[in-house]
Amino acid sequence: MAYEISKTVKDEKVPFKRPSPEFFEAVGGSSGMRELMYRFYDIIYESDIHNFFPQDKAEFDKVKVKNTKFFIQLCGGPKVYEQEAGGADLNDYMIHIHDDFTITDNARIEWLGCMKEALEQQDMDEELKQDFWRYVEAFSKLTVNQFNTLSNPYF
Ligand code: HEM
Repeated sequence: MAYEISKTVKDEKVPFKRPSPEFFEAVGGSSGMRELMYRFYDIIYESDIHNFFPQDKAEFDKVKVKNTKFFIQLCGGPKVYEQEAGGADLNDYMIHIHDDFTITDNARIEWLGCMKEALEQQDMDEELKQDFWRYVEAFSKLTVNQFNTLSNPYF
């Protein structure tokens, strides 16, 4: 099945929908979600965008655990992440967490490539995988905060 990616357009409104409860059930609840997301972050650790993340394995593992809690909650599992956001709107909070990093659309596409690889290894209904994919494909656009507006004077 195709994992489609469309380009991020600056200031364009990005509608997104949380993955369905059926996805969370099919992935195997919290423990299945941990398997999927830890696989994803292990792929990230070996990817071209690994430099965004802590290089130290123990520190990286902490990111893995923390971020997975967000995805568990997002997908309708127990509210294990909420305390991290301190009561703020979770979507807004999640967008702004990324402000500390310079994220281009190319970095996003690499991030999505890692997610595609993790999902492809997941044995579950394709349509439900697409449901999760649609969320990450859309929401990741909101984390992009660096657009190439300058033309290179040397070429
Ligand atoms: C669907 C899209 C995405 C979601 C839901 C998401 C989710 C998260 C979450 C939950 C955190 C941890 C927040 C916390 O500190 O509590 C985080 C941090 C981070 N994300 Fe994302 N992310 C997304 C896209 C991206 C993309 C495209 C990049 C591109 C490089 C990225 C890079 C990072 C980095 C560098 C951190 C900080 C890691 C650290 O703590 O050192 N994220 N993200």
